[in-house]
Amino acid sequence: MTDIVPEVEGLVFGGDYNPEQWPRSVWDEDVALMREAGVNMVSVNIFAWARINPGPGRWHFDELDAIMDLLAENGIKADLATSTAAPPPWFSQRHPETLPVDPEGRRLNYGARAEYCPHAPAFQEAVVAIASKLGERYASHPALAMWHIGNEYYRSCYCDLAAAAFRTWLQERHGDLDALNDAWGTTFWSQTFTDWEQVLPPRISAETPNPGHLLDFKRFSSDALLRLFRSEAEAIERHAPGVPITTNLMVTGDFAAMDYHRWGEHMNGDHRLIATDHYILPEGPIEAEAQVAFGADASRGLARGGPWLLMEQAANSSAWRGGYFAKRPGEQLRHSLSYVAHGSEGVMYFQWRASRYGAERWHSAMLPHGGPETKTFREVKTLGGWLRKLAEVKGSVVRPQAAILLDFESVWASSNPGEPSAYMPAYPELRRWHAALWRRGITCDLANPAWDLSRYPVVFAPALYLLDDDANLRRYVEGGGTLVVGPYSGIVDRNDHVHPGPPGALRELLGVRVEEFVPLREGETIALDDGTEGHAWSEIARVDAAASGETAEVVASFIGYPSTGAVFHRRLGEGDVWYLATRPTDLDPFLDRLDLVPEVPGLPTGVETVRRAHEDGRTYLFALNHTDKPVTIPTEGTDLLTGADWNPRTHLHGNSAAVIRER
Ligand code: GLA
Repeated sequence: MTDIVPEVEGLVFGGDYNPEQWPRSVWDEDVALMREAGVNMVSVNIFAWARINPGPGRWHFDELDAIMDLLAENGIKADLATSTAAPPPWFSQRHPETLPVDPEGRRLNYGARAEYCPHAPAFQEAVVAIASKLGERYASHPALAMWHIGNEYYRSCYCDLAAAAFRTWLQERHGDLDALNDAWGTTFWSQTFTDWEQVLPPRISAETPNPGHLLDFKRFSSDALLRLFRSEAEAIERHAPGVPITTNLMVTGDFAAMDYHRWGEHMNGDHRLIATDHYILPEGPIEAEAQVAFGADASRGLARGGPWLLMEQAANSSAWRGGYFAKRPGEQLRHSLSYVAHGSEGVMYFQWRASRYGAERWHSAMLPHGGPETKTFREVKTLGGWLRKLAEVKGSVVRPQAAILLDFESVWASSNPGEPSAYMPAYPELRRWHAALWRRGITCDLANPAWDLSRYPVVFAPALYLLDDDANLRRYVEGGGTLVVGPYSGIVDRNDHVHPGPPGALRELLGVRVEEFVPLREGETIALDDGTEGHAWSEIARVDAAASGETAEVVASFIGYPSTGAVFHRRLGEGDVWYLATRPTDLDPFLDRLDLVPEVPGLPTGVETVRRAHEDGRTYLFALNHTDKPVTIPTEGTDLLTGADWNPRTHLHGNSAAVIRER
């Protein structure tokens, strides 16, 4: 497996480091404490545009030189950022057209960050100029380990420049205006365009907007940011070929700001790597450890099953939560190890030292306001020590037992206004299935429905609204896979046009015909004759004898919908396909029907095991006990964290962890 951060020996450990917020005297303490904690890489220059380029044509690299030199002298590597996510006031004032406009036509002011229009030429040119300057200056700096472009891309803009760029993008996608009119179904409500100049971003309008328009704008906005990312990456590569390049994605939130799978096409492979940020929601509804696993599995999915890097997490509370949610003693240690268990090549945080001022002065850090004599810093040191002991894990990969299908276009389309139910969000449903599987010890990739799925024994498609055709899923099932499809899947095509005869693109494959949707009200449930219940959604659904050649069968029915089905099963080729015409309130009774084999069978819920394996056969079993009670883990080898032998009678204490190099 490729070493995604070859300049760093072993696993990566560190965080965002913003020394420009501190007097020079603090820097020496910083690096001394970093060394004490085992930090080997920090992200620098993330928001320092105003420092390196304080005015038009003015470049000041003394401070960044000093930071980079200090890191090099102390054997700490730099993940050198381009600083382009936060244009300074001078830039916005000089180029007011680069400030973003919201859907209501309001131009946002500077004063926070990410105030840019991705389509403004002045901004596009400025970021490439900065990236080139940095590439030229630091390409052979001994501290440089990798490049970090921008920060958490998500910004979209609705200004006139965006409108022009949108038209160009639409011309590339659809060709002529007739094709655009067809794709957006503009005969509805007399929306037909007769001139490209009439086409605008989906700015606020009088009533429910056109869903095709909204969907294309999402795609366009994601592509525009990807172009921006690539333009900086290419500028750097011209000066520093061969150094890994990344940016911190946010695949882990319900946010779905971008089509991360499309991004993944440009962030995997030669000298690019997938890195993601993850901030859990302490108030649930899913337990923190399962959220961690979801974030990690989604990131590994983006990396196409290979290694990836956790670029940011919180050592304790996150400022933007609107309240302080402290992590309990030991909690962030287990979370951090869990990311590594699920394939991260290290653990990074936002940020190294807690800021004294600014919007995030109450965001936690590796080094809190309380200084080194704090629970958090002690845990940081413990983790640094552990990661050093886990160096040999680098480059090993996880082999998941199942996949959950995640399609960003589906997520976007199913949240357009005018949907038949307000209680069928896609992303939270994927999380719910993921958590139910995680509690059973099943590790899942989050995979795109168009990828080769043959390596997964079971594939879940809990919410796959948008699908052009069933070809890839059919191949998977006929080849021996088990596919589980949730309700309201296969319903529309890529233009958000309803396929005739629901469940549309999946009707033939499932052998099921949905006569009508019967969405449920908030809090309402519906009983099935197998003793289970569903919520949010139900259907009048039947076996489609013609389509399935009588091979589909009803396994359970809704009580009260005579001679229809709620759970369907069909044997097809070498495989099986299941269809659920509701969202089961408890997923376990359904999961019990499947042949799901956990990594380590027989463990109680809350005891997490994930195995990482090298190509040469060496394996590491990560065992994380998130419960209070001791358990035994049936394997043999050496616990790398303690150096002690492990056997099937060894106790893993409550709230603790072991990483067993297996014999
Ligand atoms: C994101 C950003 C950081 C910081 C943290 C706080 O990860 O990239 O700059 O704002 O959130 O949670």
